[in-house]
Amino acid sequence: MRDDNTRNRQQTPNLHGIRLFFIALPLVLLLAACGAPASPATATASSAAVSSNATLKEYTVDELAKFDGQNGNPAYIAVDGNVYDVTNAAPWANGSHFGQYTAGKDLSKAILLVSHGKAKLSEVPMIGTLK
Ligand code: HEM
Repeated sequence: MRDDNTRNRQQTPNLHGIRLFFIALPLVLLLAACGAPASPATATASSAAVSSNATLKEYTVDELAKFDGQNGNPAYIAVDGNVYDVTNAAPWANGSHFGQYTAGKDLSKAILLVSHGKAKLSEVPMIGTLK
């Protein structure tokens, strides 16, 4: 009888602790999920798409024309007042897009007529604005 009591007294705190652990665990995980910053992949994707305002440069139409992707020049295009860097976009190799469009231009009107529309702009970094 005395032995039983002793055993019970020893087991109760342990069971209590285990129960507390399983109640606390989901709460801790939930708090961690809410407080954690966005995953690196998400952060990279969004920062790659749009440069911070501090690094955005203003281009005139004449300045933009120099970025035609020819002779080693970077290839920039403008749409709706924003300038995008397509230098590293495969479909814009040497500043030419399927032989139909060339970089260094404001293509705001042209992009409205294309099947992929403006969706593709999210794949290239926005690096400036057009004056
Ligand atoms: C900004 C102005 C742009 C114009 C005027 C333009 C125009 C075109 C045209 C005429 C085609 C041929 C097929 C079609 O009519 O849909 C095409 C296809 C394509 N463009 Fe563009 N494009 C532009 C921007 C971009 C950008 C920024 C990207 C990505 C970096 C891109 C990626 C592609 C790809 C991958 C295709 C192949 C077909 C598809 O996946 O829809 N384009 N584009």
